[in-house]
Amino acid sequence: MVEIKRLSTGIRELDKILCGGIPEGFFVTLTGEPGTGKTIACLHFIWAGLTNLEKCIYVTTEESRESIIRQAAQFGMNFRKALDNNRLIIIDALMKERNDYWSLREVTLEELLRKVIEAKKELGSPCKRLVIDSLSAFWLKAPSLARQISYDLKRILNKWRFTIYATSQYAITTGSAFGWGAEHIADGIIRFKRSIRRGRLRRYILVEKMRQTPHDLRVYEIDIVDKIGLVVLGPIEERIEDHVLPKRVMEKIRRVTEESRP
Ligand SMILES: Nc1ncnc2c1ncn2[C@@H]1O[C@H](COP(=O)(O)OP(=O)(O)O)[C@@H](O)[C@H]1O
Ligand SMILES: [Mg+2]
Repeated sequence: MVEIKRLSTGIRELDKILCGGIPEGFFVTLTGEPGTGKTIACLHFIWAGLTNLEKCIYVTTEESRESIIRQAAQFGMNFRKALDNNRLIIIDALMKERNDYWSLREVTLEELLRKVIEAKKELGSPCKRLVIDSLSAFWLKAPSLARQISYDLKRILNKWRFTIYATSQYAITTGSAFGWGAEHIADGIIRFKRSIRRGRLRRYILVEKMRQTPHDLRVYEIDIVDKIGLVVLGPIEERIEDHVLPKRVMEKIRRVTEESRP
């Protein structure tokens, strides 16, 4: 059997679930509702690269660069130092008014590719890891283009030998990913879920797809722990559907929210 080179996710238990990590060159989407740990998983992926003396690129569209640096610092990941040492570039799509060089002037595929390729040239090798958090931002104005955008992105960035983490949001109301863009072309899908059980928010992770990998098919409960980051607690036996709020309750919440709108 041909040995596949895998990159660590930076989360030991997740590496085990994935039989060693993400195959090099893969395009992996991280999908899920807000607050489920997607961004934090991205931070671990980047930190794993940095501690392995790789150079990394992080594109942030929903949080500022400063917010990413602060969040990483809470888990003992020194992104500031990596930026200062030219080992990491954080491309900021949010704070564009600051006239910062590593920011996107427009949130378009062309601008993204231009900056990412420029960043790769600036960093030099080995620069294998790229995070796009989130990819949904690039089709916010035209959801019907989601598939086309993800396809073009994958095709072009593949040539640049990146292993890519791209996050995509799930719409809370419909439970479907915006546009179903990235999942269709992804080599891997890591799904983040949440539920409320015994009055507490629980988070879960499930590897739904990973090409060329006999990965674990179970749902794992995860936690986010201060100073540590994303921790995999263990597989759950029950169905996740057992723990989400009943349809009746969700319907009531929706009605009350709509009625209370001015
Ligand atoms: N220092 C911390 N300690 C514990 N939990 C944290 C800490 N920082 C963030 N979190 C948790 O992580 C959540 C955000 O996770 P994030 O990965 O940003 O979600 P998303 O899936 O939207 O990207 C917060 O809502 C909070 O519950
Ligand atoms: Mg996020």
